[in-house]
Amino acid sequence: MLSGRAEVLSTHTPSLFAAAVERAVAALGQGEVVALPTETVYGLAANALNSEAVARIFRIKGRPGSNPIIVHVASRALALRCAREWPALADRLAAAFWPGPLTLVVPRSDLIPDVVTAGGETVGIRWPQHPFMQAVIREADFPIAAPSANLSNQISPTSADHVARSLGDRLRLIVDGGDANVGLESTVVDLTSPVPRVLRPGMIALPDLERAAGVKFESAPRPGGGGGALRSPGLLPKHYAPRARLVVLDWSDESDLQRQLATFAVNPDKLWILAHSCVPLSGNYLHVCVIPDDPEAYARALYGELHRCDEAGAELIAVERPPEGPAWAAVADRLGRASA
Ligand code: TXA
Ligand code: MG
Repeated sequence: MLSGRAEVLSTHTPSLFAAAVERAVAALGQGEVVALPTETVYGLAANALNSEAVARIFRIKGRPGSNPIIVHVASRALALRCAREWPALADRLAAAFWPGPLTLVVPRSDLIPDVVTAGGETVGIRWPQHPFMQAVIREADFPIAAPSANLSNQISPTSADHVARSLGDRLRLIVDGGDANVGLESTVVDLTSPVPRVLRPGMIALPDLERAAGVKFESAPRPGGGGGALRSPGLLPKHYAPRARLVVLDWSDESDLQRQLATFAVNPDKLWILAHSCVPLSGNYLHVCVIPDDPEAYARALYGELHRCDEAGAELIAVERPPEGPAWAAVADRLGRASA
């Protein structure tokens, strides 16, 4: 593994963007692993057709070899090359949501090496929306394998700075494409059984998927709940976790919050409050964050906030329980895992 610090490439002018595409494509072509922006979270990218390069992703992340990696494409044609079968349902969902934060799990083609799928017969495919990622895939003309660019079991990065802090000494190149616009990982949908189902909730919500697909989905596994075979190995209860302990609480007013916090026996100056509606106005908390009361804006802000908590050395993060409903499912899922 490399020591030293990764070079961070900016992309905020057309010439910087073009130069960064060229650098990223050259590195990927040589089997290197580079961190690239996507609209969901930053990805740790390698040529999906190069087994050694993909194996390097696993080593850098400390990821168990049993956890398959998503393959990113930038055209329907490239998606078809990665899949042995492409169900009509895949086309309907792709037409509605690609490019975007949706991963479709389909039977894999022979093109895709074992290491990508963790030896399984299926592959997760996504056409990301971020212009930089799209430009790299078009230019490279191979699919790009990319998990989130964090150490295994840590919070996904939504900025180049997050990547630099956790993996900066294990990478040569990080491309800065700005703050991730979606902020949570893609919705993963399994299309390999008769009835489709959501393996990982994301910001494309179930009712929208069902409307576009024209069929009902199997009900999603409960966050953290065991139950049956592990179809999506990444979906372990303890995942996406900050270092600090995170609890999701309902509080009716400030004194109610204080009463509940007292039971945790943590100094107030080690306490980070994340509230969207009932915001405490007193108490010597380390930090009170007012997070937007809107699912998209909340999702965009959440991981940045959890990264800040860890940076600041918070011991306990008390999160006001978000509203119910399908639009909030991904936020609820990630908070559930972070508190498991
Ligand atoms: O938004 C995203 O999906 C980001 C960006 C970089 O595209 N990627 C991402 O990758 O979140 P990762 O590896 O952190 O999470 C992928 C999830 C894991 O839970 C993994 O187990 C699941 O998708 N997955 C990947 N391939 C699969 C397959 N063939 N069958 C079932 N689950 C799969
Ligand atoms: Mg991940």
